[in-house]
Amino acid sequence: MDRLPAARRFVRRFVAGPALEDALQVVTRLNAEGVDAAVTHLGENVVTADDAAHAADAYLDVLDQIARRRLRAVPSLKLTHLGLDLGESVCRPNLERVATRGLAHRTLVWVDMESSAYTNQTLGLYREVHASHSNLACVVQAYLRRTAQDVERLIEVGAAVRLCKGAYREPPEIAFPDKRDVDASYARLLDRLLSADALARGVYPAFATHDERLLDRARDSAKRGGVPADRYELQTLYGIRHDLHAPLRASGVRLRVLVPYGEDWYGYFMRRLAERPANLAFFFRQLVRG
Ligand code: FDA
Repeated sequence: MDRLPAARRFVRRFVAGPALEDALQVVTRLNAEGVDAAVTHLGENVVTADDAAHAADAYLDVLDQIARRRLRAVPSLKLTHLGLDLGESVCRPNLERVATRGLAHRTLVWVDMESSAYTNQTLGLYREVHASHSNLACVVQAYLRRTAQDVERLIEVGAAVRLCKGAYREPPEIAFPDKRDVDASYARLLDRLLSADALARGVYPAFATHDERLLDRARDSAKRGGVPADRYELQTLYGIRHDLHAPLRASGVRLRVLVPYGEDWYGYFMRRLAERPANLAFFFRQLVRG
């Protein structure tokens, strides 16, 4: 796929490019349009401690470059990229290094949520490192049946919480198989994260979705509750529903777009194809034409 120009072009719809510089150029453009950014260095499930340490180094560079260029952007990383499969003793120091640099730059560091095989470990490590690094933010997935309970525990510690629907294939015992149930779960969790009680504990909710009904619900719910525009944000992915940026910005909400970069795009790209069958059809048409 790397060698086919048509495939590369299509990947570039979702990925800024192979280098950090590619991502920073996209972030600069977004910032100029009034949109904030999150930067992801693509990679997951590394198999050596050296690769995990290099991933953490890359995020230090992301943080330094963002600060040097005075960009409105934060990093967003995966724990299996920092070595979670090799054990917490490998992953934790890497996460602490990135979180500490984030603290020095007064920047949030988002910890993405991966498949349910990692939910317990991710939330556990998040809670431990968050105790000394208040700038660590975490992600929950509305499709998981357990998430309402996880959200209550995150509210207790006043966490910054990104709510997404969830991007991995999960068994029905663990996750709602029906999209309507996932959307209903998202709506309930959204209301809880925007509740006066959660906000009073210092929760900072981020609603990550391209679902217009849920984006509207977040804004309506915030307006009804008198939540100021700087106490929550909406988030989308680079290359998806770009048409929403201008109207969302015009409505006065804070919008953040997650911009991935790097060579290791396969897993991320496949999740984007899988969540929308139309992408797959388009992709194959491009390949045939190419
Ligand atoms: P839904 O799938 O219902 O889509 C709503 C509409 O959005 C579609 O009708 C279509 O118009 C558009 N759309 C959605 N996906 C598209 C695609 N791939 N291509 C083109 N159009 C598309 N997941 C996870 O498990 N862990 C995580 O840490 C994160 N982090 C994260 C950060 C941010 C900023 C976002 C926006 C999303 C995530 N996700 C994630 C991914 C998330 O779980 C989910 O898979 C995608 O956001 C797609 O679901 P939607 O909420 O957009 O709804």
